[in-house]
Amino acid sequence: MKLADNKATLSFSNGAPSIEFPVYSGTVGPDVVDIRKLYGQTGMFTYDPGFLSTAACESAITYIDGDKGELLYRGYPIEQLATNCDFMETCYLLLYGSLPDQAAKTQFSDLVTNHTMVHDQMHNFVRGFRRDAHPMAILTGLVGAMSAFYHDSTDIHNPEHRKISAIRLIAKMPTLVAMAYKYNVGQPYMFPRNSLSYAGNLLHMMFANPCEDYVVNPVIEKALDRIFILHADHEQNASTSTVRLCGSSGTNPFAAIAAGVACLWGPAHGGANEACLKMLEEIQAMGGVEKIGDFITQVKDKNSGIKLMGFGHRVYKNYDPRAKLMQESCKEVLHALGLENDPLFKLAMALEKIALEDDYFVQRKLYPNVDFYSGIVQRAIGIPTSMFTAIFALARTVGWIAQLDEMIGDPDYKIGRPRQLFTGAAQRDVVAIDKR
Ligand code: CMC
Repeated sequence: MKLADNKATLSFSNGAPSIEFPVYSGTVGPDVVDIRKLYGQTGMFTYDPGFLSTAACESAITYIDGDKGELLYRGYPIEQLATNCDFMETCYLLLYGSLPDQAAKTQFSDLVTNHTMVHDQMHNFVRGFRRDAHPMAILTGLVGAMSAFYHDSTDIHNPEHRKISAIRLIAKMPTLVAMAYKYNVGQPYMFPRNSLSYAGNLLHMMFANPCEDYVVNPVIEKALDRIFILHADHEQNASTSTVRLCGSSGTNPFAAIAAGVACLWGPAHGGANEACLKMLEEIQAMGGVEKIGDFITQVKDKNSGIKLMGFGHRVYKNYDPRAKLMQESCKEVLHALGLENDPLFKLAMALEKIALEDDYFVQRKLYPNVDFYSGIVQRAIGIPTSMFTAIFALARTVGWIAQLDEMIGDPDYKIGRPRQLFTGAAQRDVVAIDKR
């Protein structure tokens, strides 16, 4: 970051002396006011619940222009990456800062492929869960448990350990996700197939069984790879910030990523794809397209507590660029599978159109986000609704790792420790129990 020409001055109405703060500029995007000395100089904190105006770190990985609806990974527009690159190239880009040439890509893919198997004892660990446990509950446990299985890569301050744990996490995440699924449906785990692509291997581990051959459908493989690219990173969202905060204490990388998985699970974040599909199914059960009007009326009623899932975003105040790409993949997959007349897709298109024309959504700049269509694609592929967020977690793992690595390498990094505006009881004395 570089010092901007101007400074910020904070003045007080009670006559206390005003203070100047430096302003820094990034490459693109809003400048930041550096308030690190505020408490030391005034004894005051800033108050910003939900981080609406707070940049918690400096980062060079992902940039979002929410007004334009622009998403860049390391400077490259998501549209270009989604159409010209695959997930392995995207992982390389996020981790190392540049796109690989063919030799580097092959070397990186081979490295990931060579780590896809998990410690055999992990199979026993999965058996400890109830069969009907939510896959995200299993995944949170499994990722955390990796620190118990891979002791040689748990020192977050050791660059070599971080490098090995990064590859292990990217490589083993599909295996763990597939294990959670197979355990749920009561089928034997399928070992990874190293001859397949990253996406193809996940399809194999989820849908193959030991009794018959499974052939990966290239259209589905491509769509899944695109889902991975679109979800790979999204700057300082809730789960990424959780990973950074968790990692800032010096905990091991597996524990920090497990914290990210746990955060992602929530319906306001990664759980939205599951919630969105359930919402579409509910509207369909109510009567489908005919009932959209009634549903929108409920959404607009603040007392109903109902949101239009897959709509709205903290940063995007325009169409989420990932949603457009997801809609494209959705059409391709439905066409390839002969599901062009899929009622949920038709319902989603009609719902989107009605919402985009409604004043409530227009005024609040609420547009479809990535989760609006990703559920329909995954459902068409045969992935059950309860697995959607686990697929998101798998794809976001590389982003979490890149952000964690960037934080550890940042000379300004400190343990994260927000402050508070205390409104509870001031000091008081304990009264003996018989006198209370
Ligand atoms: N349906 C109806 N109203 C909404 C919605 C929605 N989906 N999203 C926002 N609003 C309203 C909200 O009630 C508020 O209205 P008012 O100003 O009258 O109080 C206004 O729009 C601003 O919303 P906000 O809640 O202050 O915005 P936020 O930045 O705190 O929340 C959000 C962002 C994503 C949590 C929210 O839009 C939401 O809950 N959306 C549905 C869940 C969803 O699709 N999440 C996936 C996000 S993209 C994937 C990811 O990054 O994980």
